[in-house]
Amino acid sequence: MKPQPDIERYLKQHIKTSLVGRELHYLESVTSTQDVARDLAEKGSPEGTVVIAGTQKAGRGRLGRTWFSPEGSLALSVILKPSTDEMRFLPAVSSLSVFHAINRLGVPAQIKWPNDVLIKGKKVCGILIESRPQAGDFHCAIVGIGINVSFDIRKYPEIAELATSISAHSSREVSVNEVIINLIDELERHYQKIADTDSLRSEWLANMDTIGRRIRVNMNGNIEDGVAETINRAGNLVLRRDDGTDLEIVAGDVTIVKD
Ligand code: BTN
Repeated sequence: MKPQPDIERYLKQHIKTSLVGRELHYLESVTSTQDVARDLAEKGSPEGTVVIAGTQKAGRGRLGRTWFSPEGSLALSVILKPSTDEMRFLPAVSSLSVFHAINRLGVPAQIKWPNDVLIKGKKVCGILIESRPQAGDFHCAIVGIGINVSFDIRKYPEIAELATSISAHSSREVSVNEVIINLIDELERHYQKIADTDSLRSEWLANMDTIGRRIRVNMNGNIEDGVAETINRAGNLVLRRDDGTDLEIVAGDVTIVKD
């Protein structure tokens, strides 16, 4: 948990946001940035606090998986306090922010519902949202974002088939700091729009690779096939099954089926 004052200072000089990143901690190595951010939130750190780690020893993924964070990857968690209504659009805010942060580097990204970001069909970013209800109609959400920036995926055969990194698709060197600065800027921009769920949903739909594709959804072992029809007003995926019926998917793992 050693702080890295030089990197922290550099980032603070380059971040121009007023909410996201107003308190920022850069640590050399942690178990999970999610745990550090949660502790900070419990001790009173404000909304917008960002925790970044050089490496994580026990990074967590969705659905109980582990998340791999070697040097050259970005592990960032941010404390946000949305209302109950806004909460369901945190996946839109976070995935759109990553999508734009990567596109700004000249590398075309895609979003896969609910909040994976891909480059050429391979996963470059995973997002984990953990939340607790708070007094009033609010939640304390810890949004954890892991991005493969510049490490060589080929050295890690366990993830190489399904994952990629930004640098594998860029003609120039991309630094983790550059991605952090873009990402914090985009998080602020999209979080400011969270109450306008209609326009956020339209932007999410327009940039989501999943829509119109033939997919397979795994919901805790329960498998459903069909075509991804749309995202409804609740932020859930609507699957059109082959028998013509629709199924609303609240949580699950989506695979694009080659047709
Ligand atoms: C997924 O399974 O796709 C989600 C991965 C989320 C990883 C990030 S890295 C920063 C934060 N800290 C964690 O332990 N997990 C999230």
